[in-house]
Amino acid sequence: MKIKIAPSILSADFSVMGEAIKMVEAAGADLIHCDVMDGSFVEPITFGGQMVKNIRPLTKLPLDCHLMIEHPKTQVKFFAEAGADIITVHYKACKKISDTYLRETLELIKSYGVKCGAVVNPDVPVENIFDVFPICDMVLLMSVYPGYGGQKFIPEVLDKVKKARAYAIKIGRPDMDIEIDGGVTEENAEIIRAAGANVLVAGSAVFRSPDPAKTIKALKS
Ligand code: DX5
Ligand code: ZN
Repeated sequence: MKIKIAPSILSADFSVMGEAIKMVEAAGADLIHCDVMDGSFVEPITFGGQMVKNIRPLTKLPLDCHLMIEHPKTQVKFFAEAGADIITVHYKACKKISDTYLRETLELIKSYGVKCGAVVNPDVPVENIFDVFPICDMVLLMSVYPGYGGQKFIPEVLDKVKKARAYAIKIGRPDMDIEIDGGVTEENAEIIRAAGANVLVAGSAVFRSPDPAKTIKALKS
């Protein structure tokens, strides 16, 4: 399976975001991971649809929008119209509202012709989102608690990656994108890939690297 690297712009300098995006594209990134935080589902606030709209013309890469927000349904329109290629929403934020909110949100994303995905935090069993696997283009397994870049990888998530890949195969979707987010480094990328993840988010590993192209290559192979 092709391994894709998604640098998280959370670790970029927001005052020169356009340059940061062009830099990681030139360095071999496959997606741009946009961490959207609302100050409620997670403590910090980052940015909204306007950022996605402004960076859209600067890169050919897909924009992978990770919504760490309450009531994600209310924001889907803005991100879809801004040019998001993938929108992922948190199981926990949806579950707080109702048992059907996650599925409804994923279907709403798809209705805009945008790819969709469900996200689980480290303490949520991946089995909790098995029912929406058939409608997801990607599933995202958090390997840190969301909110901040530069945290340490939680190795227990590797078991969940294996379960997710096995379930994707079982339902006839062996090539489904399984994304890992948080604490990915050149040192642990190999075990993450071996467990069955094929999309690796990397914030600090790429943006703090003295040689981002070399780091992206190392994360891939
Ligand atoms: C955490 C974010 C991650 C984070 C990854 O809340 O969702 O995308 O930016 O950063 P690193 O790779 O530094 O852990
Ligand atoms: Zn993220």
